[in-house]
Amino acid sequence: MNEEAAKAELARLAALLAKANEAYHGQDAPEISDAEYDSLKRRNAEIEARFPALKRADSASEQVGAAPSEGFAKVKHAVRMLSLGNAFEEGDVAEFTGRVAKFLGIEESALSFTAEPKIDGLSLSLRYERGELVQAATRGDGETGENVTENARTIANIPQKLTGAPEVLEVRGEVYMRHDDFEALNVAQEARGAKTFANPRNAAAGSLRQLDATITRARPLAFFAYAWGEVSDPLADTQMKAILRLKDLGFETNPLTALCAGTDELIEHYNKIGTARPELPYDIDGVVYKVNDLALQERLGFRSTTPRWAVAHKFPAELAWTRLEAIDIQVGRTGALSPVARLVPVTVGGVVVSNATLHNEDYIKGRDNKGEDIRGGKDIRIGDLVQVYRAGDVIPKIADVDLSQRPESAVPYAFPTVCPECGSDAIREEGDAVRRCMGGLICPAQAVEKLKHFVSRKAFDIDGLGAKQIEMFYGDDQLPIREPADIFTLERRDADNLTKLKNREGWGARSAEKLFEAIDEKRKIGFARLLFALGIRHVGEQAGKLFANYYLSWEAFVNAVRAAEDESSAAWAELLNIDGVGEVMARALVTAFAQEYERESIERLVAELEIEDAEAVSSDSPVAGKTLVFTGALEKMTRAEAKARAESLGAKVSGSVSAKTDLLIAGPGAGSKAKKAAELGIETIDEDGWIALVAGL
Ligand code: IVH
Repeated sequence: MNEEAAKAELARLAALLAKANEAYHGQDAPEISDAEYDSLKRRNAEIEARFPALKRADSASEQVGAAPSEGFAKVKHAVRMLSLGNAFEEGDVAEFTGRVAKFLGIEESALSFTAEPKIDGLSLSLRYERGELVQAATRGDGETGENVTENARTIANIPQKLTGAPEVLEVRGEVYMRHDDFEALNVAQEARGAKTFANPRNAAAGSLRQLDATITRARPLAFFAYAWGEVSDPLADTQMKAILRLKDLGFETNPLTALCAGTDELIEHYNKIGTARPELPYDIDGVVYKVNDLALQERLGFRSTTPRWAVAHKFPAELAWTRLEAIDIQVGRTGALSPVARLVPVTVGGVVVSNATLHNEDYIKGRDNKGEDIRGGKDIRIGDLVQVYRAGDVIPKIADVDLSQRPESAVPYAFPTVCPECGSDAIREEGDAVRRCMGGLICPAQAVEKLKHFVSRKAFDIDGLGAKQIEMFYGDDQLPIREPADIFTLERRDADNLTKLKNREGWGARSAEKLFEAIDEKRKIGFARLLFALGIRHVGEQAGKLFANYYLSWEAFVNAVRAAEDESSAAWAELLNIDGVGEVMARALVTAFAQEYERESIERLVAELEIEDAEAVSSDSPVAGKTLVFTGALEKMTRAEAKARAESLGAKVSGSVSAKTDLLIAGPGAGSKAKKAAELGIETIDEDGWIALVAGL
């Protein structure tokens, strides 16, 4: 090869690699396999080595850091990004305002609220330090998001600099795409043969989460500010004034934001926004109500993932009629047989729907879980004309059946009594709405679903190992993943294997390496995440945290659960005594660890991991880990507020005094509990003492 030929070849390779990169990053639709990509890159590097002077400024060999499968850096939010509780009916709104007043122990008439559209986009947190935009992060799981700073800088209505802002200010709001921009984007995508987006929200999310910010820049995104995270100085003393302040600082805020005195005015504004909705140039899916007084917001605080001081009043679902072509049964992680409706595709509120959930056997028959009629007792049959409804992001449902359109040949649906995946009996236990496959892990569907759950975002969250890859590996004879431990032995087994992963279709040396690295990164895992990842029935994310906070170490937890096998043991009683643990959950947990097969599978997994103990919560609080009892009347706050506050500081609140009680807070009228505490020598303080104790924490 002479110099001229080398130069031409480098140019050709640069063009091919750039195209491959754009297809991979930009369209989420790779055009060449990883192996081909690798070989192009290798050839590029070889030629550069022979003709160093010809190396191009845009050489692919300089771009290792931005390798396609590398995701975004993670950002831990200084203040968690929460979601909102939902209200669907007017009664739910009245309940919300009533609940707020009750929690605070004040009259409802003393409260005012803001009401504003709920934008159907994705939330973004923008951090400004000394007026400079320094970081932008997506919500992620609420605690940790993705660093999308470069992308956020390309959004035209996000200010890069602020004047007169607090030294530290995190502005939160929604990134969205306008309808006209969305249509134009899809037309352009289609013309280029690139994938189109189902709706503006997907388009906004897909555009913001681009590894290449130049692609984000080309996409017409916009931002509405409606909240904040960390602030070094309060923005204002009310929600409304804080929003006005954000507007003054240069953020776009929603012009339909209004101040409302109570439920009636909230509903009035909801209706006004609902009427304006068809004319709005962007999608909204409800109206958000927030307590206006920020001091009250502070007192109200949060439940585990939602604030007590806000609620999202959703618009009613969108409806459409279509034909039910078939009913398929899906087998879930815990063996549940879930019927899925296969529909003649129909557009419901701008989204094409071809599947909907049918919940369970009784739902198809026209009965609810109490055996009462739903849909006037009409059953659902294959061939029926059915009404599909969709509310926001939730899975579409079948709401109704048009009996006048029922084909004569339609017969009642016979729900299977054996698992369609493994042939085991599918049993419906007394009181359970769900029929379950009894195959356990011999059922391939259960095993695969368990693995998918194991690698899901809130569990092990392994980059490059999603549902699709799990299915591939599950069916792979040479390098199978059939239980969680197999994930962590994959690299070792690959090393012993003749047909290497990197030689498989769709894999290259680079992608195989990346997967092994991503797996290694997750060997170190927190207790709560691990427990959640195991996918034990009734043991969800919250339960994972609950047990982690209680037992702190995995070993202590496993010992306790094993000791609790005997339901007359002290260990069983202790398990049930944990606030938030009921018999159903406790039994599911004990059963999982009692079954030899499952226990051993967990042990094989644990042998591959380094489990991080939970930290005692809020260890700098004087009540962390202590057991508190409130008695008598409280005058400055309600019992609910006091309890929530104590728990947020890491205390356990109990209803009765015992030797385990550390502190009694006794208001006027305290009776037998105060007496008992005195007898047991338990420290007792009054409400003012309590307020002083937790002030400033
Ligand atoms: S307030 C602590 N206001 O809805 C509460 N959220 O379902 C912070 N959203 O994650 C949220 N419009 O992405 C708030 N005007 C609005 C909103 C809004 C849309 C989104 C947001 C949030 C989700 C919760």
